[in-house]
This record gives sequence, C-alpha cells and structure tokens, in this order.
Amino acid sequence: MTWLRVEPNAEMREEQEAKMTITTKFTEMFGIEHPIVQGGMQWVGRAELVAAVANAGGLGFLTALTQPTPADLANEIAKTRELTDKPFGVNLTILPSINPPPYDEYRQVIVDAGIKIVETAGSNPAPHLPMFHDNGIKVLHKCTSVRHGVKAQSLGVDGISIDGFECAGHPGEDDVPGLVLIPAAAKQIEIPMIASGGFADARGLVAALALGADGINMGTRFMCTIESCIHQKVKGAIVAGDERGTELIFRSLRNTSRVASNAVAREVVEILSDGGQFEDVKNLVAGVRGRRVFDEGDLDAGIWTVGTVMGLIDDIPTCDELISSIVSEAEELIAGLNERVLHTQPRVHARELVHD
Ligand SMILES: Cc1cc2nc3c(=O)[nH]c(=O)nc-3n(C[C@H](O)[C@H](O)[C@H](O)COP(=O)(O)O)c2cc1C
Repeated sequence: MTWLRVEPNAEMREEQEAKMTITTKFTEMFGIEHPIVQGGMQWVGRAELVAAVANAGGLGFLTALTQPTPADLANEIAKTRELTDKPFGVNLTILPSINPPPYDEYRQVIVDAGIKIVETAGSNPAPHLPMFHDNGIKVLHKCTSVRHGVKAQSLGVDGISIDGFECAGHPGEDDVPGLVLIPAAAKQIEIPMIASGGFADARGLVAALALGADGINMGTRFMCTIESCIHQKVKGAIVAGDERGTELIFRSLRNTSRVASNAVAREVVEILSDGGQFEDVKNLVAGVRGRRVFDEGDLDAGIWTVGTVMGLIDDIPTCDELISSIVSEAEELIAGLNERVLHTQPRVHARELVHD
C-alpha cells in the first residue's frame, strides 16, 4: 500500500488550528474543553458569568453562598441551565462564622439539582465528600498550602486548585507565591491540579503548565468581563489599577484576606495593627457594605475582594474572547518557546575562554 502525504492547504490549516486545544488530565477528569476555571466568587459567581464561561469551553462555578437561601441556589442553577447546556459547577465555601449558613441544605440542593462538579474551599472538605461522591459528583478542592493539598488528596478529592499568595480573597497565612507553591505542590499532588492566584493571560497558563499544573483558575480576571454582573465602575477600577492596589486585612486575626486598597481597607489595617480586635472593625467590613461596591459602583462603600493580577488586566472582554485568546495565544507561545530554545547560540564555557 502506498501512503500519500497530503500537504495541508490554507483552509485545512485554518480548520486544524481551529480544532487545536490544550488538553490536560484536568480537562479529561472534569470533562471540559479548556483548562481554564472561573473559581467561586462571592456576589460575582452568578448564572450569566458561569454560563458564559461554560459556553466558552471553560469551567465556571456558581457561588452557593451568594444566594440568600438554598432555594435561591436551586433557582440560580435552573437559570444557568437555561443559558448553557455545557458542564458547570457550584462552589461551596466553608469558613468559620458566628452564624454559619445551613451548609447541609445547600449541599442537598447541589445534589438534588444533579450538579456533577463542586469546588470546595475554606476548610477541610471531609464532611461533604461522602455525599458528593455517592451522588457521582467530582470535587475540586481549593487550598493555599501544599500540606492542605496533600491532605485533601488523601481524603479522596478528585482535583486540587492551589491558590498562591497573589490571589484575591483568602491567601492563607504562609505567604508563598505561586512560583514556589505550584511546583512544590506538583511534587506531591498526583491527581489533576490547577494553579490559582495571579493568572490572567496566556503567559500565565503556559507558566502554570511549565510549573507542573494542569490548568489555571482565575477570579479577578473573570470579574472584569462583559458577563460579570458587577458595576462598570468596579471593572473600570480593575483596568485602571495596578499590582500594588491591594491590602491584606485580618492578618493579626490569622484570617488574612486580600482586598482592594481603598479608604475602608486601609482603616481596617490601621485599627488591627494598633491592637484592635474584630469587634472594632466589624461594621467597616460588613458584607452589606461590600455588596454596595459591586451593586452601586461606590468604590469606597466597603471592602471588596480583588487580586494583585489587576496589574495585568487592561480590558473588559467577553468570556468567549478571553478564553479563546488565552488558549490560542498559549499555543503560539508554546511553539515560540520551542523555536527560541532551538535558535539559542551554543554556549561558550568560561574555561574555554581562559584557554583561548
Ligand atoms: C470578588 C471575589 C470574591 C471571591 N469569593 C470567593 C468565595 O466566596 N469562595 C472562594 O472559594 N473563593 C473566592 N474568591 C477567590 C477566587 O475563587 C479565586 O481563588 C481567586 O480569585 C484567584 O486569584 P485571582 O483573583 O488572582 O485570579 C473570590 C475572588 C474574588 C475576586
């Protein structure tokens, strides 16, 4: 038999390129097209955003606790399903709280609604795993240290999202940025793992893959998209902001949170640094005030969560534009890196120079 090699013409090349995508063990495990995740975001992770991420081939998570009651979460899941037929998940954040929300009821809604992917965060996912796994739900656990990732892996979660110090929200207390945290975690995590905190573009995705992750999780970058429901002024502040525009609040309470640096956040930092306690800042950090920032665009109404990656964000694209450009530019970058390595001049060793 003779094999005929057909050289692709421009049209065939275009078709091949359109089909090219970055497949990793994360995309395989969670049944998505691209290794790009939109993590849970309080007040932001709603139906329109999550569906837009799903339609673009990424994995979006509704934020369970953004919905005031478990019944509201059921409605939000139904609304998301009207907007997409692609897979999406629900984030369940379990944080210490004086009046804890009814986690078990939210969990029951997730199961009853037939959701197949859950992102857990905030504390040990163990109490929730049996019910999720018994109902065929895959669990992606987000954590900020290698030891917590290893622990979650041993408990049987299906994937790890490892969140570096750069991240918006809760970076933990170890202050280890992604450049060290991701490869340190990759040494010990065998299940699919994505890198989180500080990602916004193709360079980040390629770097995450090189550091040993199977994809990326982004929060701040997805906040600043057309389909994100927050006020345009907040998106404008993210575009205008740079990598120095955040504060770490609650350090002395060992519940550190990275938020936008505004008058309220700076006041909280000052009060706590002077020995103040939670009671002294309780009113300043009230959730209702933070929510006004997102709803009304009053940037100094309260504290609002954002990451250092603001410094890399200078536009407000649709989720489809964002995800497809990250994937296609990442492919170009990977090919380009290879070329750069091949074209490197042979090294002249110092010893050879001495002998010359
Ligand atoms: C406005 C906002 C709210 C967030 N709320 C939550 C939350 O409720 N639960 C959670 O697990 N992570 C939350 N996060 C963290 C993100 O899921 C993600 O881990 C983080 O944003 C990654 O860092 P990046 O912003 O640098 O991409 C939030 C992030 C933002 C920007």
